[in-house]
Amino acid sequence: MKILLVCLGNICRSPLAEGVLREKLPGDFFVDSAGIISVHEGKSPDERAVKTASNHQIDISNQRSRPITDADFENFDKIYCMDMRVLNEVISKIKNERHHEKVSLFLSATGEGIQNAEVPDPYWGEMDDFENVFQLLDSACHKIAAHLRNELNN
Ligand code: 4NP
Repeated sequence: MKILLVCLGNICRSPLAEGVLREKLPGDFFVDSAGIISVHEGKSPDERAVKTASNHQIDISNQRSRPITDADFENFDKIYCMDMRVLNEVISKIKNERHHEKVSLFLSATGEGIQNAEVPDPYWGEMDDFENVFQLLDSACHKIAAHLRNELNN
């Protein structure tokens, strides 16, 4: 099963989520991330995101920012968006109704009935904001990984 995590710039939230979710889903899963803007294309994640992940023994330094493409809607099984702006932008790119059901808000995928909850953007914040986002992502990814394993085995 292939999972794509999407945020605005693909240098803070979705690279962290990619690092965390990949650790929790070894084996039959492929985890990648993308952004909706291309200004950071080809760049490493924000150094504060790299440091925060490294504080938790996760190396995201080899990731490179890229914008979401039309092919992603075909290639991935799940496309999880970090906030409403990103979700709306991703939905606006859908050209095939079949792709619609792949797309949802990341925190809704925890299966806890959380609706419209967003992962806050730490880009304009401090290291504390990155750590808080890491904790939110780690807890959500734990639940999402359990759901996806379950879905794959049923
Ligand atoms: P991200 O954070 O969407 O979590 O990667 C941001 C990255 C870049 C910008 C904003 C948010 N930006 O304005 O360039």
